[in-house]
Amino acid sequence: MELDINKLENDFQARIDAGENIEPKSWMPEKYRKTHIRQISQHGHSEIVGMLPEGNWITRAPSLRRKVGLLAKVQDEAGHGLYLYSAAETLGISRDELFHQLHTGKAKYSSIFNYPTLSWADIGAIGWLVDGAAIINQVMLTRTSYGPYARAMVRICKEESFHQRQGYEMMLTLCAGTPAQKEMAQDALNRFWWPSIMMFGPRDEESPHTEQAMKWKIKLKTNDELRQQFIDITVPQAEILGLTIPDPDLKWNEETGHYDHGPIDWDEFWQVVKGNGRCNKERLGARVKAWDDGEWVRDAAMAFAEKKEKSKEAKKAS
Ligand code: 3HC
Repeated sequence: MELDINKLENDFQARIDAGENIEPKSWMPEKYRKTHIRQISQHGHSEIVGMLPEGNWITRAPSLRRKVGLLAKVQDEAGHGLYLYSAAETLGISRDELFHQLHTGKAKYSSIFNYPTLSWADIGAIGWLVDGAAIINQVMLTRTSYGPYARAMVRICKEESFHQRQGYEMMLTLCAGTPAQKEMAQDALNRFWWPSIMMFGPRDEESPHTEQAMKWKIKLKTNDELRQQFIDITVPQAEILGLTIPDPDLKWNEETGHYDHGPIDWDEFWQVVKGNGRCNKERLGARVKAWDDGEWVRDAAMAFAEKKEKSKEAKKAS
């Protein structure tokens, strides 16, 4: 019986519209599968690459307490990458292929991680702003239509909100410290504010994926809606810190109930996305080196697993 593709697609859309989760074994349009592999794998790559700028300060943390907290956070990000790669694998792509796509530049990771971490305050700003922005997006994704992705988000969001609080507490400590410490916090905000609001992606009208992503409930809010939500939440937090957000056009709009903000430098955004940011080459180089240096570990783990399998079979046969 010839597959009635129209009926399958209509039934699929009806399930999405009814708010059902799509599971790995459900029928799904090839484009739905492919766009999830693209988004989930890039999300996972963002987590793994995101370990690099923060890892840069583990050996230079100002106290044992800060070092332990940062170690735990970086370890959490590795775990987030693992959950996301596992979710992507349910769609039929192998882990090796995922990494090949990252290492060859075929797959992206979040632009934000191509900025350098120049001071300890950057670690506070990343927790506060970058994890804060990630949470806004990820809370929405806990209700995304693809089951394994939505479920991975639940655990990730719990840990991410801890990261955001940890980063904000670092900024509070610096802002309550010496003038030099407060200046360091202000400098970090000056450098991470605009790249953080770029994390949400291009403007809706320039996003090639948003329309279909909304139809398939991959996204439940658009890039601009999430960006605005982040700005509205974060501006009062900066005020509590006594820091100035580097946007002279930032102003509360009583009519809309949101903050108006100045123009985003989309040239900078696309330059970074295209690989021409300050740290793109360094980040990708670090990932490729880690992959090459870790080959013996993967081979040993595979050999051990094969040996274990063989001895299990030998026991069964005897
Ligand atoms: N950095 C790099 N590329 C970006 C980007 C960014 N900040 N924003 C958008 N892009 C890319 C998209 O990947 C797409 O390119 P592609 O077709 O080659 O994949 C292109 O720009 C067009 O953008 P769209 O908005 O049309 O693409 P999407 O519909 O995929 O939306 C997104 C972009 C909002 C980032 C969406 O992919 C998403 O929600 N991803 C999941 C969340 C995520 O990846 N977050 C990254 C941060 S994770 C993190 O911060 C870790 C935390 O622990 C700190």
